Amino acid sequence: MKKTKCAVIGCGSIAQVHGAVLGAMEDVEIVAFADILPQRAQQMAEKYGGRAYSSLDEVLEKEHPEIVHLCTPHYLHTPMAQTCAQKGVHVFTEKPPVISWEQWADFQALQDKVRVGVCFQNRYNRSVELFRQLLAEGSVGKLLGARAFVTWRRDAPYYTESGWRGKLSTEGGGALINQSIHTLDLLTQFFGTASGVEASLCNRHLKGITEVEDTLEAAIDFGGRQALFYATTNHCADAPVLLELVCENCTLRMEEEEVALRWADGTVEHRTLPPTGSLAVGKSYWGNSHGLCIRDFYRCVRDGEPFRNDIPHVADTMELMLKIYDCAR
Ligand SMILES: NC(=O)c1ccc[n+]([C@@H]2O[C@H](COP(=O)([O-])OP(=O)(O)OC[C@H]3O[C@@H](n4cnc5c(N)ncnc54)[C@H](O)[C@@H]3O)[C@@H](O)[C@H]2O)c1
Repeated sequence: MKKTKCAVIGCGSIAQVHGAVLGAMEDVEIVAFADILPQRAQQMAEKYGGRAYSSLDEVLEKEHPEIVHLCTPHYLHTPMAQTCAQKGVHVFTEKPPVISWEQWADFQALQDKVRVGVCFQNRYNRSVELFRQLLAEGSVGKLLGARAFVTWRRDAPYYTESGWRGKLSTEGGGALINQSIHTLDLLTQFFGTASGVEASLCNRHLKGITEVEDTLEAAIDFGGRQALFYATTNHCADAPVLLELVCENCTLRMEEEEVALRWADGTVEHRTLPPTGSLAVGKSYWGNSHGLCIRDFYRCVRDGEPFRNDIPHVADTMELMLKIYDCAR
């Protein structure tokens, strides 16, 4: 079996999940890990194989990977993807792929050069698949509106100790671009392109500590259907993300992988979803479908098939995120 050579750039928290997923894939060979903190790359290489480097350039020059995973801070995703594309190397980048309209233009220009996938892994969650199926079947009726709540806890050290979080130039924003972007992404999955938005942001518990928002609310218009969106890192815990879709005959509610369907006659139906099994990796509140998402990207690259999270299919989310910031700021 020909193995696909891959490398992981940035060896902090989320790289552990990429390492575990790639390490379990039989048709993949991890040739390199890189981090500006060399001991982090070294530890990953010892655990999952490959050699340790301190830069993307070195990895591209010496190891010639076919796919590079970008697990670096937000502001580096677009320029690193450009560097890979110049060498004809495919890219699987962590979210968010961009932090500004300028980066979005540059990122879109990569579309015809190499395969690019974005890690919106929650699109692969069982609950999301079920909602898609129910909406397509039609018994729930037309989608009328939604509400979404992301209420987590992030304290000052999460920002002050990271070197890149909390700053507009490196993180690009806070509760929206970092913690709740997956939930915004699910809204565009169900509703499509937003036609308008009103939004505001503020800094409550991190006032004076970060430049980026710790709380953001938005009323998003999807062609006459409204989605209310609220995200904060000021809760006392990492509560399960709540997403509720109101349809003509039923309200579909998910809290992580717990689903309840409230039908118009008042009956409530709880659905138990099949476990994600050995592909479940990562903290549950991140959504644990990294394994499904990464494997699907490799399959699509190998078979020359379109990938669910390629550049055109993340456009609605990226443009909505940037519009929300334009409006709220
Ligand atoms: N999909 C998800 O659910 C999910 C969850 C957590 C984090 N993330 C995303 O993953 C990315 C990384 O987040 P994290 O929490 O792992 O951050 P982190 O700070 O723990 O890790 C980032 C790593 O990148 C390294 N780095 C910085 N500059 C570099 C460079 N020029 N070259 C090589 N390495 C460099 C840092 O030293 C650090 O080890 C972010 O974009 C974040 O939003 C996604």
